[in-house]
Amino acid sequence: MPSWSSHEVPVPSSVDAADAGPLLALTAVSNDVVAHEWGSRDYDRTPQEVLGSLRDQTYVRKVRQLVTSDDDGTPMAYLAMNLPLQDNTHTGLVEIGVLPQFRRQGIGAALHDEALRIARAAGRRALTASTDQREEPAQGPATLVPSTGTGRVSADAPATRFATARGWQLEQVARRSVLQVPVDDGALAEHRAAAQAAAGDEYRVVHWGSHAPDEWVDEYARLNTRMSTDVPLGGLDFEEDVWDATRIRTTEAQFVDRGIELVVAAAEHVPTHTLAAYTTLMLPPENEEFVHQEDTLVVKEHRGRRLGMLVKAANLQRLAEVRPQARRVATWNAEENSYMLRINIDLGFRPSGGAGEWQLRLDA
Ligand SMILES: CC(C)(COP(=O)(O)OP(=O)(O)OC[C@H]1O[C@@H](n2cnc3c(N)ncnc32)[C@H](O)[C@@H]1OP(=O)(O)O)[C@@H](O)C(=O)NCCC(=O)NCCS
Repeated sequence: MPSWSSHEVPVPSSVDAADAGPLLALTAVSNDVVAHEWGSRDYDRTPQEVLGSLRDQTYVRKVRQLVTSDDDGTPMAYLAMNLPLQDNTHTGLVEIGVLPQFRRQGIGAALHDEALRIARAAGRRALTASTDQREEPAQGPATLVPSTGTGRVSADAPATRFATARGWQLEQVARRSVLQVPVDDGALAEHRAAAQAAAGDEYRVVHWGSHAPDEWVDEYARLNTRMSTDVPLGGLDFEEDVWDATRIRTTEAQFVDRGIELVVAAAEHVPTHTLAAYTTLMLPPENEEFVHQEDTLVVKEHRGRRLGMLVKAANLQRLAEVRPQARRVATWNAEENSYMLRINIDLGFRPSGGAGEWQLRLDA
């Protein structure tokens, strides 16, 4: 039986620095674990992407540990924890990944104990985690339904067993949906025109890329704040996460450092010169075919006017201009978020697995 130990991953000055070895190994191990879950390399991150994220810990403390073999230093597993420092300081996000060939040796359990120790020392009372699934299982006794009542995960999946044996509760199921792009521009133009007609002249689309115009940065921050509370949260214990212009600029700088480009479309409510909706696409470095659909939000006061479709169709048109090589856009939505799912289906997104969203209460 091999023995192993876990070490904190230092943040090197660059990916070529003498002490960058653990960061490179962390990147490789986490990429391999995720690729094994999905059977695809679309979620691979570059070492620079990981380094850029770790360099910015203004709003979130990021703990990264790498498990290596004591015999020959082979990387085996990792622990990643994000501990918010501004809002939601009662929570923490945990990710544990063990390479397939090193599973069922107690490494995952040891990293879980370590995560709890770190969370308690940081005064956290709730932890969240996600477990991926390539397909949502059919209804039946071997499934688990979250507290929302919508969506399922397999009760027998290793990660489900791992989580339930440790007291985690399934609070939500997220659906992953994938759109093959480019979408026929005629279809997008039709969706956009129909949505614009329903919304009326008071709304107009504005676009930007990796740097929000000064004119909109405060409004963009206000919408990012609303994103934390105006979306379905199931039973997850999250409070408002406040954004301001400084946080937008800090985060934009982090994306530049990571080599990530953003494509944003927003809907201006012209009479009040405020933003009513926005949607963000994220273009990872070194994979021109894959795009992450990130946040989409229509603020509550402006819902029911087809602004969700308006900004999403407009942003997919923009994507075809700025990244014509893109072939797949993947998005995640709560299974109970029927309005958002409807828009995605109308645009051509198709279900492609998803994730269980779990919570562990440390004060229970
Ligand atoms: C979930 C995961 C971290 C478990 O890692 P691991 O090192 O194999 O886990 P351990 O050996 O410490 O197992 C601990 C317990 O988990 C449960 N478990 C883990 N794998 C299991 C499997 N294939 N079948 C049944 N139970 C399993 C068991 O209760 C096990 O205890 P036991 O071995 O005494 O029966 C690993 O499968 C993994 O990396 N999966 C992909 C990433 C992921 O889903 N992470 C969890 C979300 S953050």
